[in-house]
Amino acid sequence: MLSVEKLTKVYRTGDTALTDVTFTVPKGQVVGLIGPSGAGKSTLIRCVNRLVEPTSGAVRLGDLDITRLRARDLRRARRRIGMIFQEYALVERLTVMENVLSGRLGYVPFWRSFTRRFPGPDIARAFALLDRVGLSAHADKRADALSGGQRQRVGIARALEQEPDLLLIDEPTASLDPRTSRQIMRLIVEICRESGLPAIINIHDVVLAQQFADRIIGLQSGRVVFDGPPAQLTGDALTAIYGAEDWTAMRQSAADDAEAEAEERDEARKMLRAL
Ligand SMILES: Nc1ncnc2c1ncn2[C@@H]1O[C@H](COP(=O)(O)OP(=O)(O)OP(=O)(O)O)[C@@H](O)[C@H]1O
Ligand SMILES: [Mg+2]
Repeated sequence: MLSVEKLTKVYRTGDTALTDVTFTVPKGQVVGLIGPSGAGKSTLIRCVNRLVEPTSGAVRLGDLDITRLRARDLRRARRRIGMIFQEYALVERLTVMENVLSGRLGYVPFWRSFTRRFPGPDIARAFALLDRVGLSAHADKRADALSGGQRQRVGIARALEQEPDLLLIDEPTASLDPRTSRQIMRLIVEICRESGLPAIINIHDVVLAQQFADRIIGLQSGRVVFDGPPAQLTGDALTAIYGAEDWTAMRQSAADDAEAEAEERDEARKMLRAL
């Protein structure tokens, strides 16, 4: 379980990015973090693993107080936190397999990773993960030969290769087309459910967030102004997060999408049963 308590971040420039942000995320829950540009979404995600140093407040993962760890213990704790970025952050010249294995770098001694000698179980896990994200046929391809959606799948496999206890995901679909975005979101959510992983997904697309997340947290100027199930994200709630607008059309489209998604799930279940 992740617990964030009264987290506050004031940057050196004087910008207050987060004020008293408090929430907990239980195992297997996928949180969609939404809010306008500059609301503090990336800052929040980065404070959780201290890529950005919080000004005050606490972040706990299980019984570990991340905010109090010194450098060495922090490095160890970060192994338990998988990050997936919008820009994929793959090593272009390495193969898909090597990129996934690089998720183990926090574990493998430097000289072994340098010679790219990974232990057998790490390699077996990497193959299984590539299979899970639908990329087993591409293991030997160079990362720069992949499409955006495939690259994001590699990013997901690499984060999971770390065997994390938490996933932090910053705008996973920002540079993907709508259909690929949905596939990537679905994959992330399915994997979190299967493995009981909690996840925070910072996402600009409210409809996608509503459709796939178990819970929505809305930030506005660094404060939590909404925290609840997607169905409770009413026009008023959206106005509190983003400001006044006519949200009717968007809410209708979210409702339609949610219905289509439920139908697809039912179909899949029926097919499985028929097997
Ligand atoms: N390194 C930094 N130094 C100073 N101020 C920063 C820094 N990073 C972010 N900020 C400020 O903190 C606030 C929150 O920024 P943040 O990047 O967390 O927002 P965001 O919700 O991720 O926005 P976006 O949707 O545009 O990615 C903004 O006012 C921003 O200008
Ligand atoms: Mg951001």
